[in-house]
Amino acid sequence: MARLELQRVSKLLANRQVVLQDIDCTVNDGELISVVGPSGCGKSTLLRCVAGLDKITSGDIRIGGQRVNDLPPQQRNVAMVFQNHALYPHMTVYQNLAFGLRVRRVARAIVDARVRRTAVRLGLEALLGRYPRELSGGQRQRTALGRAMLREPGVFLLDEPLSSLDIPLRAEMRRELSALHTALGTTMVYVTHDQSEALSLGQRVVVLADGQIQQIDTPDGIYKEPSNRFVAGFVGWPPMNFLDGDWLENSGLDAHCIDYGIRPERLLLQPSSSADAFIAGRLERIESFGGEWQVEISRNGSRVIARVAPNPELRRDNELRLWFRREDLYAFDRATGRRLQG
Ligand SMILES: Nc1ncnc2c1ncn2[C@@H]1O[C@H](COP(=O)(O)OP(=O)(O)OP(=O)(O)O)[C@@H](O)[C@H]1O
Ligand SMILES: [Mg+2]
Repeated sequence: MARLELQRVSKLLANRQVVLQDIDCTVNDGELISVVGPSGCGKSTLLRCVAGLDKITSGDIRIGGQRVNDLPPQQRNVAMVFQNHALYPHMTVYQNLAFGLRVRRVARAIVDARVRRTAVRLGLEALLGRYPRELSGGQRQRTALGRAMLREPGVFLLDEPLSSLDIPLRAEMRRELSALHTALGTTMVYVTHDQSEALSLGQRVVVLADGQIQQIDTPDGIYKEPSNRFVAGFVGWPPMNFLDGDWLENSGLDAHCIDYGIRPERLLLQPSSSADAFIAGRLERIESFGGEWQVEISRNGSRVIARVAPNPELRRDNELRLWFRREDLYAFDRATGRRLQG
């Protein structure tokens, strides 16, 4: 187990393109932190830099207190699981699991004991004789995880390890991963582009965009107290509505240099003593998700989505009011995107 510290880590490419800029982040010993951001924001590069597969341009990386900038990957006490989890196709599950230990010339009996113990832990004991092509996506995933576990690293680096799985299996593997983290107590960095996965798995979440950290916080903090417009719009589904245009023209709110946002789940079909403000538009679309409907209203070409309880009285093309509490509005500085508080 180990604590991972990144101090002012930057990475520039040969053409001076900035891939990572001044990354400051500490992952506590035993913590599971998720890193989320859009495609190309630098997530994989960040992990590769920690693993030692990519070189950083400036800054420091410490693992367990030791500066590892100049150490090769195998001396960094980390194990990385990649998106495509590249198992050796010509080796069985057993051989895949044993490979790293065999290379390090660990005695056969010890390898055998450790491989079997890990296999039991991951529910792979009946599959040890199979080849990767004979495994399901989840089983392959577990084999890749097992291979990383057998290295007993101080830090696990997981780069979108579930992205090749279908949705039900992803949810199952996410629970397994979470249980595994609890059982192992190992420091883990989990990279994903899926915000719901990042929030459900991470004890804390790092939101990355354009190579820069936008926010580090608990899932609750990221959702409730986004630091800027980017984070607010990236986390939550459907995304936060930004009330650009004249939605608020009669509200008495200053919309000159401030952008207002409200989450779809904070809009209501009925007023109440606390929800006494509203926006109004033409009901364009009703989409049923069984226990919940999503309704979309429009006004001068701008759209707002609300998540509401099913209501058979709603009619498309009618004018619809969506009510809210003023304290549920988020305000952002239009120039900088920073959230304005209070
Ligand atoms: N070796 C390289 N040569 C040139 N550009 C690179 C190289 N590695 C990364 N990049 C660029 O750096 C940026 C970050 O890439 P990275 O793979 O870290 O993104 P990511 O967040 O993992 O994206 P994804 O979600 O698609 O996996 C991208 O703009 C990418 O094109
Ligand atoms: Mg990536």
